[in-house]
Amino acid sequence: MTDLQQLLLSRIRDVADYPKPGVMFKDITPLLADPEAFTALTDRLADFCVQTGATKVVGLEARGFILAAPAAVRAGIGFIPVRKAGKLPGATLRQAYDLEYGSAEIEVHAEDLAAGDRVMVIDDVLATGGTAEASLQLIRRAGAEIAGVIMLMELGFLGGRARLEGALDGAPLESL
Ligand code: PRP
Repeated sequence: MTDLQQLLLSRIRDVADYPKPGVMFKDITPLLADPEAFTALTDRLADFCVQTGATKVVGLEARGFILAAPAAVRAGIGFIPVRKAGKLPGATLRQAYDLEYGSAEIEVHAEDLAAGDRVMVIDDVLATGGTAEASLQLIRRAGAEIAGVIMLMELGFLGGRARLEGALDGAPLESL
């Protein structure tokens, strides 16, 4: 394990039986409250944007916003929010995806992404991969390219990596 991984892991709190019995919630608020850890994470995310030639950062609501916005500023590129449906005021592209029970929809402002953009997707957790996969579909529908996806955490037992790799078309997927 790298020094960065040790630092990040030490600042993520396991909360048993939240939000429902049997679930171990990974709480990142101690990491956000620690400037050394949050800065180290931001620098790593921004480096990945620069290495991959990203020209824009997409953050996935809500915790993804917290990580993606400072990374975009540090990398010197724009931040684009992908929101749960119904929250953006302008003309949007909307994408539905399946949840364990039912489905959900996410949206992006259509004018925020265009041909020629190379987009990095940032979020806190890769679980089933459904949210991130839907964000890739939105980005491609806008005519933009995928620079990569980077996640703070990956819940390996849910198979999100395999699902996302199938949708990435060779673009890199990193989890810290
Ligand atoms: C969580 C997490 C990811 C998503 C991962 O968000 O922050 O965005 O779920 O799950 P998946 O890989 O199975 O799609 P949540 O919907 O809980 O939203 P929040 O950040 O607004 O709490």
